[in-house]
Amino acid sequence: MHIVIDSLYKTFGATTALENISLQFEGGEFVTVLGSSGCGKTTLLHLLAGLTTPSKGSILIDGEQKDTPGADRVVVFQQAGLYPWLNVSDNIEFGLSLQGVDKAQRRRASSDILHTIGLDGFASHKPYELSGGMQQRVAIARALVMKPKVLLMDEPFGALDAQTRSSMQTFLVSLWEQLRCTIVFITHDIDEAIVLGTRLVVLSARPGRVALDTPIELKRPRTAESAFDAHFLDLKKRAMAILSH
Ligand SMILES: Nc1ncnc2c1ncn2[C@@H]1O[C@H](COP(=O)(O)OP(=O)(O)OP(=O)(O)O)[C@@H](O)[C@H]1O
Ligand SMILES: [Mg+2]
Repeated sequence: MHIVIDSLYKTFGATTALENISLQFEGGEFVTVLGSSGCGKTTLLHLLAGLTTPSKGSILIDGEQKDTPGADRVVVFQQAGLYPWLNVSDNIEFGLSLQGVDKAQRRRASSDILHTIGLDGFASHKPYELSGGMQQRVAIARALVMKPKVLLMDEPFGALDAQTRSSMQTFLVSLWEQLRCTIVFITHDIDEAIVLGTRLVVLSARPGRVALDTPIELKRPRTAESAFDAHFLDLKKRAMAILSH
């Protein structure tokens, strides 16, 4: 899926959240977006998801302007946001049931993906019976079961402890290596952005403008050692210089 963001502006009353954003994403890219609080990251994700429309400029997805959400572009938020009254498999199958997929097919899809996320045996658990990391894995599974072409993630690991966060990062990369969907991953953690992505976009403080857009050329698998790589340190320095303004 090819995404072209062209001269995009988004204003809310007197506030300009995003200013003159132009970016192009190819299918299969893992784009990480860094920016300080309030610079318009969530707004950019909502625009890509079709949850809101640009004030000026355009977003073309495979050549088409899409002003409404679609199953081809799903969002994972910072909080898992599972439906507390549904068990794990019903949470995962919710979107499929809205699409009219029959029960047997839904069950197959949810049990396959539960296996992928390492939660076999938790299908009938309620969200409150899971840890934060497990809930977030279910939220990612709920998004992936729709087989989206684009996965839009808004600080999905922000609420997790360091250990869980690191295992979720490894988990996400292995999913992306299997599925090869496009991921747009928002974070304000510089190390997370560099360790995950194939490409790093850094936005300036509000109004958000593209201050840096560069490939991340670190070989995979990336490990704790990658953080000492000269390329990693160079990207980190450049990102920090922008974020500290
Ligand atoms: N629905 C809205 N109505 C009015 N202003 C909004 C709305 N959504 C966002 N804004 C404003 O747009 C700017 C960017 O907000 P946004 O949520 O995109 O920032 P962010 O980069 O995601 O920040 P954070 O890192 O804190 O999540 C902020 O000044 C915010 O107040
Ligand atoms: Mg945000």
